[in-house]
Amino acid sequence: MKQDNIAGLTRRAFVCSSSAWAVGSLAGCRTMTSSSSYSVPLLGDVHYDRPPVDTFHSEFRRLHESDGLFDSYRGEFESFSSMWGAEGRSAALVAASGKVRRPDAAFALQLGDLVEGDCESSESHARMLSDALALMKRTYGDIPFLTVAGNHDVRRGANRQGEFGNYRRDICAWHSRELGRMIDNLTFSFRFGPDLWIVADYNRPDVERVEKLLSEHRDARYTVFCTHGAVLTNGNRNPRCWFFLGRPQYSTSKGMKLSADELSKEIPVWDAARRRVRRMLAERNAIVLSGHSHRLELREWYGDGGRITEFVMNSVTRTVKGNDIPGAPVMVGDKPSDFGRCRVNPATKPNAVVDALYAEYEPGMKRYYTADAAGHAELMFFDDGVRANYYGLDSLAPCATFTIRG
Ligand SMILES: [Fe+2]
Ligand SMILES: [Fe+2]
Repeated sequence: MKQDNIAGLTRRAFVCSSSAWAVGSLAGCRTMTSSSSYSVPLLGDVHYDRPPVDTFHSEFRRLHESDGLFDSYRGEFESFSSMWGAEGRSAALVAASGKVRRPDAAFALQLGDLVEGDCESSESHARMLSDALALMKRTYGDIPFLTVAGNHDVRRGANRQGEFGNYRRDICAWHSRELGRMIDNLTFSFRFGPDLWIVADYNRPDVERVEKLLSEHRDARYTVFCTHGAVLTNGNRNPRCWFFLGRPQYSTSKGMKLSADELSKEIPVWDAARRRVRRMLAERNAIVLSGHSHRLELREWYGDGGRITEFVMNSVTRTVKGNDIPGAPVMVGDKPSDFGRCRVNPATKPNAVVDALYAEYEPGMKRYYTADAAGHAELMFFDDGVRANYYGLDSLAPCATFTIRG
């Protein structure tokens, strides 16, 4: 993994073209134009919430105090809401991302789990979402703010497998306004400069739609695929949970977890879809941006006729258990052979099915880096490469630069 020191990075003059590739008009103001050199402020998961816990989780408490579910989530609610209190670090982190925004910033992007969710009340959920979006608008000003659907953004119900309908409606309306054209799906694409950007719904992946969007823009310089759960597995040897097309999150007909019987029928279908999307992205030498792991990661995999480079960003400043996540990266693994070696639960017994899944990726994994880190980033796109500056917590100076391409 190449992690350059920022001092070694040659700053480039930014090209400000007012000609080609108009993306659309911003609500009531100017037309956004794009160029071949531009930057993108980037946030990973943020889990927006607000203390005290009852601000957004009172209905959850009311419904689940007696069945014990509230008690099992109380620690997470307290930890994540405290990130947004007076002493919390997350509001400062987001503000810093807005402060370091470059003049050539095209739009800001957040990689899902924008909100903590778990409100159990549509009214509270809609308020939590609109508060988070308002914060992002204040932070980034007149550039569009785009977000990716994460599991926390939608989940509802006693077994956390349902979906709040207002998310889909409100985010489509938000993206339509930000991009100045109708966006009616959580899986959509847009062009910026010579590049194709695809935002993919992690909770309900639409493979046909992804294929169509890719085929409509074969001329793209870079294809950037943004989703919440990682494409190149979650790296942690955590069986199937929590990566893109790893497994269905829930039954769309029943709104609850799938039974073991249903899963055994679904898994082969999802395996085929996972390999199909992997091939489509590899053939385009795609750059993938994802979140969810609450880690800072870089992976590069060669196979299926090309390569996929995945950058995983984290902006959550505390763990579920209430421990502060460091701003300066604390490296956990930095070589391809570390891929899949870090088990979420070290006591988990080896599993042949999981081993077979990871064996699909191991030979092609050529770069791998994973670290505990919370911060904000900026992506920089040039003809000769793509780089990411990483800033720890609310720092205004980057502490690491990742060469994604180039
Ligand atoms: Fe998350
Ligand atoms: Fe997540």
